[in-house]
Amino acid sequence: MSRSAHPAGPRHADVLPEGHYTAPPTDLNVLDEKVWARTVGRNDEGVVTVGGLEVTRLAEEFGTPAYFLDEADFRARCRAWADAFGKDADVFYAGKAFLSRAVVRWLKEEGLNLDVCSGGELTTALDAGMPAERIAFHGNNKSQEEIDRAVEAGVGRIVVDSFQEIVRVAHTAQRLGTRQRVQIRVTVGVEAHTHEFIATAHEDQKFGIPLAGGQAAEAVRRALRLDGIELIGIHSHIGSQIFDTSGFEVAAHRVVRLLAEIRDEHGIELPEIDLGGGLGIAYTSDDDPREPHDIAKALNEIVTRECEAARLRTPRISVEPGRAIVGPTAFTLYEVGTIKPLEGLRTYVSVDGGMSDNIRTALYDAEYSVALVSRTSTAGPMLARVVGKHCESGDIVVKDAFLPADLAPGDLIAVPATGAYCRSMASNYNHALRPPVVAVKDGEARVIVRRETEEDLLRLDVG
Ligand code: LLP
Repeated sequence: MSRSAHPAGPRHADVLPEGHYTAPPTDLNVLDEKVWARTVGRNDEGVVTVGGLEVTRLAEEFGTPAYFLDEADFRARCRAWADAFGKDADVFYAGKAFLSRAVVRWLKEEGLNLDVCSGGELTTALDAGMPAERIAFHGNNKSQEEIDRAVEAGVGRIVVDSFQEIVRVAHTAQRLGTRQRVQIRVTVGVEAHTHEFIATAHEDQKFGIPLAGGQAAEAVRRALRLDGIELIGIHSHIGSQIFDTSGFEVAAHRVVRLLAEIRDEHGIELPEIDLGGGLGIAYTSDDDPREPHDIAKALNEIVTRECEAARLRTPRISVEPGRAIVGPTAFTLYEVGTIKPLEGLRTYVSVDGGMSDNIRTALYDAEYSVALVSRTSTAGPMLARVVGKHCESGDIVVKDAFLPADLAPGDLIAVPATGAYCRSMASNYNHALRPPVVAVKDGEARVIVRRETEEDLLRLDVG
């Protein structure tokens, strides 16, 4: 991604270090709607609101740090994906991005299906009433117990990820007197990275069965021989935070080629393909994600074209967006604690959370934006690094961002686009208490995942 070093900031241009940031926005009070949930705005007093509720009030009621999730936005995004793909395709929300019982109910109401990848996610889905046939079960090392539960529950599909698992699922289904619908996850030889895709040493990873060397074709042969399995299709997931569909194009081409080989060898046309998730969202103003309609159109065209070329009936397509649905719908609200200006470098702004509620910056060098939300400011921009309270110098929430130079302890700042892979990857490092998730809609806020308490910590500590 192209970023300018040495932006001409109006106040600090002489002291700005080399860095990975764009020039400060002309007005730090303006919220870029690209990165904020749909109902977020500033009221006449300059306080940011979500679902009509002021963040100052929300902080008083629910404390900080906390994730606030815009339910209307979440539902709208579900509908946008469902509408974009239409009735001839299936959208599976990837629960790993963020899953709770409330989320499962919203998905169910909005007509989406659900991808789970562990016994815990399966339990949450079933407990909240997701019909088993609308659940896909994933994972590269499902335990026998997880397979038992998935087959017993009657999940709509198990996406098998290894030769061993094909046999395990088949035997489990036979033992339980049923046939399990199965997709085989293949590695197509495309690896997508943030903002680009590369086609290099992609088979060198733990997921899927490689197309290369005929392994996937052999997996299909074995699956077709086993009575406990109904092989319904091929699955491919190429990566995450992808903005461009060219990686999917290569993947679809290779998956369809496999479908053609299966037809030629076995005389059957598998009815489904799943192209996985991975569609990117805007974390900063520099990101330009594509709309679900655009993506659906592109994927449908690619698959239809490839199938026509291979003289195959077009299979039913499914996709598994996680981040693209939940990511933009939430922000994390923090209170500013200490502020340390380091001359010639940047100002360190410490908040009351950190890598325990957002590990993505430390783990992936992820970029985020941040804004002062409890008030507006007319002060000039200061180059800030928002850091947490953990005992680790890599405990960074936002690496480089501009905040008003009059920022003070007690101000509330918020980091947008934290709906995906933040609460779901949160930890108890330093015995931090994982923050709550509060759903906000039409002037009402309700906790859907409560804040952890010290009692919770001690309950697990049984020594
Ligand atoms: N389907 C499969 C088989 C997946 O493995 C994943 C993500 C998804 C769907 C959903 O991908 P999404 O649309 O959310 O990008 N923790 C990382 C992301 C890991 C994604 C793992 N698999 C992050 O924070 O960026």
